Amino acid sequence: MENNFKKDFKILNNDFVYLDSGATNQHPHKVLKSVMSYYEHSNANPHRGSYSLSVKATNIYEGARSAVAKFLNAKYAEEIIFTKNATESINLVANAYCEKLNSKDEIVLSILEHHSMIVPFQSCAKKSGAKLKYMYLKNYNIDESEIEKKITKNTKVVGISWVSNVLGTVTPVEKIIKKAHSVGAKVIVDISQSIAHMPCDVQKLDADFVVFSGHKMFAPLGIGVLYGKKELLEDFPPFLLGGDMIEYVYEQETTFAPIPQKFEAGTQNVGGAVGLQAAIEYINEIGYENIQKIEQEVYNYAYSELKKLKFLEVYAPQNKNERTSVISFNIKGVHSHDTASILDAYNVFVRSGNHCAQPLLRYLKLDSTCRASFSIYNTKSDVDKLVFALKQAYQKFRKYIKE
Ligand code: ALA
Repeated sequence: MENNFKKDFKILNNDFVYLDSGATNQHPHKVLKSVMSYYEHSNANPHRGSYSLSVKATNIYEGARSAVAKFLNAKYAEEIIFTKNATESINLVANAYCEKLNSKDEIVLSILEHHSMIVPFQSCAKKSGAKLKYMYLKNYNIDESEIEKKITKNTKVVGISWVSNVLGTVTPVEKIIKKAHSVGAKVIVDISQSIAHMPCDVQKLDADFVVFSGHKMFAPLGIGVLYGKKELLEDFPPFLLGGDMIEYVYEQETTFAPIPQKFEAGTQNVGGAVGLQAAIEYINEIGYENIQKIEQEVYNYAYSELKKLKFLEVYAPQNKNERTSVISFNIKGVHSHDTASILDAYNVFVRSGNHCAQPLLRYLKLDSTCRASFSIYNTKSDVDKLVFALKQAYQKFRKYIKE
């Protein structure tokens, strides 16, 4: 299949090279059109009115929920909770565990987690008295002996990203889930960095919770998903309180609606849900198999071209089956922000800094990195422009670099 997806994205009809899809994907025209059409023809407050336009908005919103359930192969549509992003989804789960854990319990995360996993569970550990432990790395991936060592009979919850937003590492999620379940622990998997690139079948994976942000998979900003096994979500306390998540409200007491409404307080982002459904359709039309084929070709090309640059350090697992979509690197002796500024001057857009993963960077003894992240619309020619710009950056900085 030929890579001509750039034409689906009007913003890419430009002379810049967009290599920051790990932060935010660009949006195909089709997705934007579906959101526009919702607002032009169907907008009203869902779940609130008995008039036909509100019922239409409700049906559209619930239709999007069913589409997400099908996409993830969830057993029930009510296992899908709409949130604002993966961060909110993780906070919802971590907040519930604050009440469930005590000082004999342990929470296990990996050191390559994003702050969105670390900070909510840090807070959960502080509030509940539970111990927070980390699985460390070998060759930029989770050292498998750490899975055995860190997940014990005291472990109650494990948090893991399927793909690292800094290193592009594909983590051994299946092994972690298996081990966690063998000791009775629950697992929350962040698929934000994988969902645009590889499928997630929640039943096959047997994850207890799965979270992602829509904006990293072609959907608009402001819509995210929490999948949770029905019985676990039913057992959780509500997270946000307010309208539409209640059953009865009295002056001093409230009873709550069943899932998913229990977790969806206030007017919901129907436009975002519509965009998410359209993004799912976009992915399904291309097919994950094609996405992987096209992306891997560009990604592997990028990896090998960057590895050829002697002035560059590349941080990624060596095994090509253990990495995808993201490459972190530095010009040796040059701060990532300086490199990124020069790349910007050549119209090549990469993220620089600590990528909301300070514990990982500290563990790797790095201050920061530049990160190129790829999507279906990137081409080998984008990689060539990145390499060209990097060579120019190196020429500018080389006289200041201490050998
Ligand atoms: N989580 C996003 C990233 O890694 C913002 O860039």
